[in-house]
Amino acid sequence: MKNIVILISGGGSNMAAIVKTAQREAWADKLGARVAAVISNKANAAGLVFAREQGIATEVLDHKAFASREAFDAALALLVDRFDAPEQPALVVLAGFMRILTPGFVARYAGRLLNIHPSLLPAFPGLHTQQQAIDAGCKVAGATVHQVTAELDHGPILAQAVVPVLPGDTVEMLAARVLTQEHIIYPRAIAELLQKK
Ligand code: GRF
Repeated sequence: MKNIVILISGGGSNMAAIVKTAQREAWADKLGARVAAVISNKANAAGLVFAREQGIATEVLDHKAFASREAFDAALALLVDRFDAPEQPALVVLAGFMRILTPGFVARYAGRLLNIHPSLLPAFPGLHTQQQAIDAGCKVAGATVHQVTAELDHGPILAQAVVPVLPGDTVEMLAARVLTQEHIIYPRAIAELLQKK
């Protein structure tokens, strides 16, 4: 079985979309894959509740308990690897995981570490993407699923979705429109990648 480990920090709606799609599309039977664990760096991440309700193993690793980014990432890798069969092409899926990962962590999972970013990369890496899109007068915005490389919000693009920026849009309105699309493209990109492996 190919284990998928999902990392979250908050609401976890993308994680929930992946879990629901995996159930609906019977990934275990059809792709030999399952969501094996959900790991959060925040104990109060709402997504943990959903994951537990689904019977998925959950773990919390509080980054504030570590003296350095390197020490946190080393502990995180140990945790991830507990759900990871090294001989299998398991995926590590960042879904609203609000931590910048060290080059060492990224290299360890090269080719099987994915992220979703709420902009049409390479436009607007980093935070406040929707505010930037509105301020720039963009007519469209969107989301990008990409392979993670050492450079923040870069890496080979696997999928994108485009939504209109409408007159009078607030950040919240635009973010909600983008998020709806994220829930479609992220599970699809993961399934496509699993099919190839
Ligand atoms: C999403 O907009 C995602 O693109 C970004 O963080 C947000 C996470 O939302 N990286 P959720 O926790 O999946 O609901």
